[in-house]
Amino acid sequence: MNATNALSLPTNLADLKAAPAEYASVTDAGTSTQEPAKLLIDDAEIIRVANITKRVATSDGVLTIVNNANFSVLRGEAVAVVGASGSGKSTLLGLMAGLDTPTEGDIAINGESLFKLDEDGRAKLRGRLVGFVFQSFQLLPSLTALENVMLPLELAGAADAESRARVILDRVGLKDRVKHYPKQLSGGEQQRVAIARAFVTEPKLLFADEPTGNLDAKTGRRMIELLFELNQERGTTLILVTHDAGLASRCGRRLTIDAGVVTDEADQDTIARS
Ligand SMILES: Nc1ncnc2c1ncn2[C@@H]1O[C@H](COP(=O)(O)OP(=O)(O)O)[C@@H](O)[C@H]1O
Ligand SMILES: [Mg+2]
Repeated sequence: MNATNALSLPTNLADLKAAPAEYASVTDAGTSTQEPAKLLIDDAEIIRVANITKRVATSDGVLTIVNNANFSVLRGEAVAVVGASGSGKSTLLGLMAGLDTPTEGDIAINGESLFKLDEDGRAKLRGRLVGFVFQSFQLLPSLTALENVMLPLELAGAADAESRARVILDRVGLKDRVKHYPKQLSGGEQQRVAIARAFVTEPKLLFADEPTGNLDAKTGRRMIELLFELNQERGTTLILVTHDAGLASRCGRRLTIDAGVVTDEADQDTIARS
């Protein structure tokens, strides 16, 4: 497939650009009139989350999904986001990648304020800096594994999209599956295609929502190795939602979310020492 073919698939591209429902709320309880916090981002920080609150209107009233989150992640860090099912992990990740908009607060990536940009500006920033592995993969059904992985490179205008996509598919163990369509792949294989697609642009910041959730123990360990190789080799910052204790313990730091309240392990240590 060449770039022209990929670009002539408007419905697919619309699918790719649209945030999956799990990361974007359909109903919003309203935008705050409060001025967003001024984000004085430190050079060492790749992302700063400032006073982020997400509320949605439900038939039972207003639900606060993320409640005043404040934390930063440094360049090259690996951070695990842990918490019970329904605690707000996917919502927080979607907000951090600018796939969802907050009710209050702001987030800076690489010093750029996400929510002062419009939708298009956020999509461009994501294209330059961010990789995202969705919990439900979000592969395009009409493209093969290879084409799915090539697509973000083609959108960025890379000339060597196919060879780079093949290298990364080989690294996730799918050399013999490149011509398969998503529905011809197992859940674990689709997850690996999604990981390859997030990796292929060599993002500065990689978000992954339960990236080993559909993998057997051995394949899961291989994907974890790959994530940390990227972290080591290229200084990629990893922000991973996970229930996998092995993966969480490999991360330098853990953020715990409980009913929308984020607790930073680093702060807890500071409190414990003081
Ligand atoms: N658009 C929405 N409208 C109403 N409730 C939502 C919406 N999005 C998420 N929720 C609820 O917010 C909570 C957190 O969801 P989520 O971030 O997906 O949690 P997790 O990823 O930790 O399982 C859940 O109870 C979920 O049902
Ligand atoms: Mg989730």
